[in-house]
Amino acid sequence: MEWTELKPKVLELVKPNEEEKQKVQAAAERLRKDINGLLEAEGIEAEAELHGSVAHGTWVRGDEDIDLFIVLSSRYSRGDLHRVLDALKRHLGGDYVEAYAEHPYLRASIEGFNVDLVPCFRLEKGEKIRSSTDRTPLHSEYLDEVLNDELRDEVRILKRFTETIGVYGAEIRVQGFSGYLCELLVVKHGSFEGLLTAAADWKRKEVISFDSNLDEDELRKRFDNPLIIMDPTDESRNVASALSPESYWTFVAACTSFTENPEMKYFVHEQEASSETVLNLLQSQGSDFLFLVIDEHRAEVPDTLWGQLHKSGQALRQTLEAGGFNVFRSSTWSDERHRHILVFQLQSSTIPRVMKHVGPPVSMIRNTESFFETHLGAEDTESGPWIEGDRWVVLLRRQYTEAKKLLEERLEDGGRSVGVSKNLAVRVLQHHRILVNEEIGDYLVDGFEQHLYRLLIGRPHWVE
Ligand code: UTP
Ligand code: MN
Repeated sequence: MEWTELKPKVLELVKPNEEEKQKVQAAAERLRKDINGLLEAEGIEAEAELHGSVAHGTWVRGDEDIDLFIVLSSRYSRGDLHRVLDALKRHLGGDYVEAYAEHPYLRASIEGFNVDLVPCFRLEKGEKIRSSTDRTPLHSEYLDEVLNDELRDEVRILKRFTETIGVYGAEIRVQGFSGYLCELLVVKHGSFEGLLTAAADWKRKEVISFDSNLDEDELRKRFDNPLIIMDPTDESRNVASALSPESYWTFVAACTSFTENPEMKYFVHEQEASSETVLNLLQSQGSDFLFLVIDEHRAEVPDTLWGQLHKSGQALRQTLEAGGFNVFRSSTWSDERHRHILVFQLQSSTIPRVMKHVGPPVSMIRNTESFFETHLGAEDTESGPWIEGDRWVVLLRRQYTEAKKLLEERLEDGGRSVGVSKNLAVRVLQHHRILVNEEIGDYLVDGFEQHLYRLLIGRPHWVE
């Protein structure tokens, strides 16, 4: 299909109609006034401002969230934040979630919209920031100058594209493209199509800047990120700093394949798989799946939670590998509330009791000595050492032949000693299960079945 043919159909999906636009904008404006009233009544020197995609006019239809920033006078400091948050909390009357990752903010549902209430400090251009959100008003100011309605729609299309291929959002779970990054990319390339054509050719450490005086090689040295795009409102910051190599290369690959053949599949998620389908696929696998299921009462805020899950998953993968298990792939799923599942795809969940271990060359006397010290007559030496070619070789007995057993024992302390993060280890101690292959059957609900389906299929849905 030609893009000119496809574009109107995509716009229909992503572009809100006038009524929808007015509805969210009116709600945001009411809320802003309401909060300003509150700030005044509380004697807090601050102003409620609307930022983010509703302010920029770049939100995707059906995905509207209102980002209300409480911009504090620059005479306040971080220590004053709790006073502002407390006033907001009283005002919301308990109907909010506290979302503390790096920066505290409140999340509420008002008039059917998700609303983020984020305190930050007033910042002049070039001034040093006090909290990570202080740049936000500068972003809005900049975008207000450079965006027009046409570009706004191009941003919406890009957000939907990145969302569909699984790389939209800078949060730890995704490590992808933030809304602001999408906005800047469209501004830079003038259109969605222009960007995609360019991105199909992106290389390692691609540099994009709005200032032709910047030294690209210097930037490549300064930032260890796959994409470097300097914030036009702050030349010290890479807007793409949260982007992982997987997200970056997924985007590049999808751009390549999209520009060859634009299709609707880049804008709509594939049909969901049933748990029976997933179970059948699981049973016909040539590899083995090992699952660690953790149930808990109340999870941490998403960014903290995902940080812990990723770190712990990595630690357990290394534990399995050190135990002699070949891990093809590992991944993490969470409903972000009560259940987290770490998944390890293994070449085999059981391995032979003995393994061959090649030692040093005979001519290396020192190394041979220490090799002998370790293995000669040792409890885990099954056979040897003997000489093969120029080297000493032994057969060693493994401590664990079942991956499940290995994990079970390593998790007896919650996994602390092998690197499971502290808070997650507490949860592991309270309740966890280790399951192999179809034993996971009862847990193929709440979206985990889709996650596992994708892993079993292995390829992104747009690759065919
Ligand atoms: P959002 O994450 O809500 O993004 O952050 P968005 O641009 O509104 O996009 P969508 O449509 O909701 O997905 C709101 C604003 O907060 C600032 C950005 O300026 C953004 O416009 N922000 C957000 C940051 O400065 N840093 C962040 O890590 C996240
Ligand atoms: Mn937003």
